[in-house]
Amino acid sequence: MTGTAPTAAVTGATGFIGTHLCGRLLADGWTIRGLCRPGSDRGDRRAPLEWTVGDITDRAALESLVDGVDAVFHLAGVGLWRADPETVHRVNREGTRAVLEACRSRSVGRLVFTSTAGTRRVTGQEPAWSSAAVADETDVADPVGAYQSSKAAAERLVDSYVDSGGDAVTVHPTAVFGPGDERFTVRLLELALDPKRLAAPPGGGSLVGVSDVVDGTLAALEEGGAGEHYLLAGDNLTYGAMTARVASHADGHPPRFRVPAAAIRAAGPVAGAVGRVTGVRVFPFDRDMARLATRHLFYSSRKAHEELGYTYDPLEAHLPETLAWYRSSG
Ligand SMILES: NC(=O)c1ccc[n+]([C@@H]2O[C@H](COP(=O)([O-])OP(=O)(O)OC[C@H]3O[C@@H](n4cnc5c(N)ncnc54)[C@H](OP(=O)(O)O)[C@@H]3O)[C@@H](O)[C@H]2O)c1
Repeated sequence: MTGTAPTAAVTGATGFIGTHLCGRLLADGWTIRGLCRPGSDRGDRRAPLEWTVGDITDRAALESLVDGVDAVFHLAGVGLWRADPETVHRVNREGTRAVLEACRSRSVGRLVFTSTAGTRRVTGQEPAWSSAAVADETDVADPVGAYQSSKAAAERLVDSYVDSGGDAVTVHPTAVFGPGDERFTVRLLELALDPKRLAAPPGGGSLVGVSDVVDGTLAALEEGGAGEHYLLAGDNLTYGAMTARVASHADGHPPRFRVPAAAIRAAGPVAGAVGRVTGVRVFPFDRDMARLATRHLFYSSRKAHEELGYTYDPLEAHLPETLAWYRSSG
């Protein structure tokens, strides 16, 4: 690294994980250049960043963002909860292509790309995949939906960047939990704490605290092998167990019943048809996503542990700060 204060370029700096990553980098003495859009909410606490304004496909903005930096953290991305499939591909795949082209054209240090655990999955026929089998980095799965396929395509672009001489590592967080996340975290807390919610969804996933994901991302920068992929996972829990553990910590009312998997799977084709006819997306449901939602999507981060020294804290360790944020933000 050059000089006394290393410089990082961060795409997605205004997002949930990006905000936590920037907070840690600033505390560690980094100078940060963040990419934001004209309408992005930069928030007061993001003031110490040097901002470059532009879209993730804006090549000129990206070249200025990454020029001469010691590290590039590429987190900008979008899912079907927020955008149509075309936009998801444009931002996730073409945005990654633009970031890599900018890196190729400038002098940059290592790039750490934040993909998703969703590109990995235990494969095989039901009931094998509905059991508690645990996936690792080698379990590359057929993508389901635009989000996973765009992330898988972006991963291939990053791998090619390394094959052609670039330095990059890919991290794959599972479901990230922590202060500032209006989606998964809020849904889980509502499910666990609202006495009116009587039923938890079937299936389960790997829940990881955002501070652990930040640790893993920084460890990938320092210790990861070029071209390697690292799952950053946490506790593997059924949704029923997640809500029960949150409720027991917070003295809430966990849902007493589980929605039958068959009901979710049956809803998928109907919601998909509604979406096609009305143009209104009923996320996350089409037939394939509905099937996926009822599975146990469990992961191992053994590789990250062995090669990066990655560890994670249990759900309960992340709850005090997360609950304080949730309660204060109403
Ligand atoms: N959260 C999770 O559970 C999770 C799990 C696995 C992987 N990931 C991945 O981790 C990354 C960060 O996730 P997150 O939860 O922090 O997401 P987030 O809160 O939705 O933040 C997304 C970020 O991407 C930026 N962005 C979106 N479209 C853009 C565009 N066209 N041009 C420039 N910037 C754009 C957003 O900027 P604006 O502020 O302008 O909207 C925001 O900074 C994503 O790539 C996501 O796929 C997240």
